[in-house]
Amino acid sequence: MNNIIISSINNSSFFRLILSSPDNKSGDLNKITVRLIKIKDEPKLSFLYSHKTKDITKNFLIEDGIAHISELFKNTLTMCVIFTSENDFSFRRTKKGKILYKISKPAHSEEDFSTDHNLKKKRMIGIENNIYLERLGLIRNGKVIEGMSGKFRQINRFVETVDGLLDESGLNTKNEINVYDMGSGKGYLTFAVYDFLANELRKKVNITGVEFRPDLVGLCNKISEECGFSGLKFTSGNISDTVIERADILIALHACDTATDDAIYSGIKADAGIIVVSPCCHKQIRKQLNIENELKEITKHGILEERFAEMITDTLRALMLEAYGYKTHIFEFISDEHTHKNIMITAVKKKKTADLSSYLEKIGSLKKLFGIKKFYLEDLFRHGDQS
Ligand SMILES: C[S@@+](CC[C@H](N)C(=O)[O-])C[C@H]1O[C@@H](n2cnc3c(N)ncnc32)[C@H](O)[C@@H]1O
Repeated sequence: MNNIIISSINNSSFFRLILSSPDNKSGDLNKITVRLIKIKDEPKLSFLYSHKTKDITKNFLIEDGIAHISELFKNTLTMCVIFTSENDFSFRRTKKGKILYKISKPAHSEEDFSTDHNLKKKRMIGIENNIYLERLGLIRNGKVIEGMSGKFRQINRFVETVDGLLDESGLNTKNEINVYDMGSGKGYLTFAVYDFLANELRKKVNITGVEFRPDLVGLCNKISEECGFSGLKFTSGNISDTVIERADILIALHACDTATDDAIYSGIKADAGIIVVSPCCHKQIRKQLNIENELKEITKHGILEERFAEMITDTLRALMLEAYGYKTHIFEFISDEHTHKNIMITAVKKKKTADLSSYLEKIGSLKKLFGIKKFYLEDLFRHGDQS
């Protein structure tokens, strides 16, 4: 096992390692996820210990981390899977102490792999004297409040994602960054992105959070003022009516149904270098599904129909982004433990123009296959381009 970990790190094929299936000596520890990260250019193994009620992260030097994995597998957790870009290697310790070994095709695609590598710089939002995390109810007395560790992990993961996208898009070299966060809600992620861009990367940052609910807008503006975040403001309004002056980054996380499409549309129109959305409910396409072929079987069951509609909607959205010159990635944002709304679409502007008609053809074929008459995002372009 150790040799596989060492060689996969050395040949850069290491993706992640998961220790799971606790034996009865492990207390409330459920799982450990190990990733390769860099801290100040030094490679480290980062261990995320998932307990029943909290998550704890610790970083180890590579050698010490591997010894720790061996120890944990020997004494505490009975399953160990090493995910690499070449193969996945599973080890299981039986009750009698026998080790069963299996090798299988990689569960993660090269795309996931490279996306994950974009995230390898570990970014953590500091909690010491952090006013906004305290006001938003994430920390108290310098510690993450019990039950909020999932949200805290999501915030950090999001900041890492944005960091990777800045590198991929070349926006990391800009001194001034303009961001719109559509459907900013309570602003957890908006504050964290501002803090990261302004205080960690030392950029001049202007972020506008757009939100329906005036109470949340009022709360967020008050906290922003208290933090002295002069470039962070929130406005009350509908995403579809928001006129964007300049946007380098367009964010829309968990905005309902077609609000995600409105956000993508405004991001493309504003020629944003980065668009990041994490779609919420997918009613618009689901209502229309009318399948006349063998795939109809999938939609006989409500939950499968729901997931199928999500997949089709997000595939169409990614195609639309690609049609306008964006390179897209779709991946799991955070684990299923916290929410099933965990798909993230990231898009980085690569080309000024793409072969629009060939993408529209692909979109048309998919619509036809699934009996979809109207794709909201496509219609926004049709009507918008006519006006
Ligand atoms: C589920 S919350 C997500 C908040 C935040 N983006 C996050 O991920 O933590 C969705 C928010 O989007 C807002 N929202 C949904 N549709 C909107 C629209 N069309 N215009 C403005 N705000 C909208 C809702 O009021 C809600 O606060």
